[in-house]
Amino acid sequence: MFSLKLETSAFDALKADVAIVFIVDKDLSVALDPHLLQTHNYEGEGVFWDQKNQALYVGVAKSDTHLFREAAFNAVRALKKCVKSAKIGLYTAKHSVHKHALEETMEAIFTGLQFGMYEFETYKEKKSKVHLQEIIVALGGEQHLKALQKALDKSKIVVEHVNLARDLVNTPPNVASAPYVAKKAKDLAEKNGLECFIHGEEYLKEKGMNAYLAVNAASANPPRLVHLVYKPKNAKKKIVLVGKGLTYDCGGLSIKTAEYMLTMKADKGGACAVLATINALAHLHAEAEVHAVLGLAENMISGNSYRPDDILISKEGKSIEVRNTDAEGRLVLADCLSFAQDLEPDLIVDFATLTGACVVGLGSYTSGIMGNNEALKTQFEESALKSGELVAKLPFNRHLRKLLDSKMADIANITPVRYGGAVTAGLFLNEFIREAYKDKWLHIDIAGPAYIEKDWDVNVAGASGAGVRMCVQFVLDILA
Ligand code: BES
Ligand code: ZN
Ligand code: ZN
Repeated sequence: MFSLKLETSAFDALKADVAIVFIVDKDLSVALDPHLLQTHNYEGEGVFWDQKNQALYVGVAKSDTHLFREAAFNAVRALKKCVKSAKIGLYTAKHSVHKHALEETMEAIFTGLQFGMYEFETYKEKKSKVHLQEIIVALGGEQHLKALQKALDKSKIVVEHVNLARDLVNTPPNVASAPYVAKKAKDLAEKNGLECFIHGEEYLKEKGMNAYLAVNAASANPPRLVHLVYKPKNAKKKIVLVGKGLTYDCGGLSIKTAEYMLTMKADKGGACAVLATINALAHLHAEAEVHAVLGLAENMISGNSYRPDDILISKEGKSIEVRNTDAEGRLVLADCLSFAQDLEPDLIVDFATLTGACVVGLGSYTSGIMGNNEALKTQFEESALKSGELVAKLPFNRHLRKLLDSKMADIANITPVRYGGAVTAGLFLNEFIREAYKDKWLHIDIAGPAYIEKDWDVNVAGASGAGVRMCVQFVLDILA
C-alpha cells in the first residue's frame, strides 16, 4: 500500500528515508550540499542521488506547473524500488497563469507522485518489487493545509480513475470483450451508487441502431451499449459523455496491416475514459447530472462481416454507404450520439480513438477538439490544458464536408482523399447531430495519446487513460 499525506511540520523536522528536492532552472543553491553536486557534474538536469545527505535531486527545466508534475513522476520512478519513505516540500510555479499558483502546482506534484507508482503487471508472474510506502508533504505550518488537502483529495480521485481506465484499456482483447467491459461498468456503478443499464443486440435492433450493429456483425462476442447515470440532487447541468468502445479493431474486411493492427485493443480507450470519468465525478460530488454512454463492439472478420458497398440505415434515419470497414468507430458513434441526444442534455462530449489522421496531424501527444461551437471548444481546450493533457482545436469547413458525399446513400463513411482525415471523421459525426444540439456537442479524438509506445510525461508504455483528466476538469470548470 502507498500513501501520500500532508504534515504541518517543517521540512527539516520530518523524518524520511529520502528528501525529494526539485532543482528549478538549474539553481543548485537549494541543495543541501551544492558542492557535492558539482563534483559529480550534476547540473540540474534529470535525477541525482545524494546518498550521503539522503536527498534525491530532480531537475525542473523552468518554473512551470506541468514540468513539476513530470518531475514528481520521475522522482517516484527513481526511488520507489529503493526506499520506504520520502518527504517533499512546497513549490510554486512562478509563471503560472492562474491565481492559485501554489495549489495548482502542488496538485500537479501530487498527481505526478501518484502516477509514478503505476504499473500494469496483471499478466506478469514476476512483479516488480516496490518498497515505497509513503510520501509526506511538509507544509511548514497550518496556512495552506485546507486548500492543499482539497487539492490532494481531488488528485487522488483523478489518478485512481485515470489508472482504472489504463487498467481496462491495457486488458487484452481476448479478455476484455464487450460483455466483460459492461460487467466492469456494472460492478463500478454498484459500488459508487450510479444507475447502470446494459443493452444487447435485441435492444440495438429495436432502436434501429443498424450502423452500430453492422460493425459488430463478425464478432464472436455480442455488443453492449452501456448507459451509466450519476444523478445528484443539486444538478446544475445535464451532460452526456459518449465513448467509442471497440474492444478490438482489426479493420474488418478493409483489414489493417500487421503493423497497424497491433495496439488496437486500445480502440476502447474512449469508452474506458468516459466510464472512469463518470465514476470520478461521482466521487468528487460534482453538481451535474452525468450520463456515460459506452458503445462497446468488436470489428472482426467472418462470413457475417459488414462489407465495403453495404448501405446501413442509422438510428437517426440517415443512410450510410460503407466504403471502408476500418472507419467503424464513426458508425458506432453515430448511433450512440443519436442515443445521447434522446436524453435531451445540455451538453454532449464524445471521446474516441477515431483516426490515425489525428495522430499524423497533431502528433502522438495531443488530442483533437472538434465541434461547431467555438466558445465551447476554447473552454474545453483551457480545462484540458490545465489538467495536464495536451489538446488542439481542429476546424471544420464546408469543403471537407463535401468529400463525404455519396452517390449511393445520404453519406459515405470515408472520403476519396487521405488529407484532413481527423476533420472529415468529425464532420461525419456532425451529420448525426440534430440542429438543436449543434452548439452543445464536442468531439475529442484521442487516437494519439490513448496508447503509449514509449514513456513520456506521467505515462508509461501502454494505455494512458487519455481523456479522463481533461473531462473531469472540464465538467468541474463549467460548474464553477
Ligand atoms: N481505430 C482506428 C484509428 C486509430 C489509429 C486509433 C491509430 C489509434 C491509433 C480507426 O477505426 C481507423 O481505423 N481509422 C481509419 C480511418 C480510415 C479508414 C478513413 C484510419 O485512421 O486509418
Ligand atoms: Zn478502424
Ligand atoms: Zn477503430
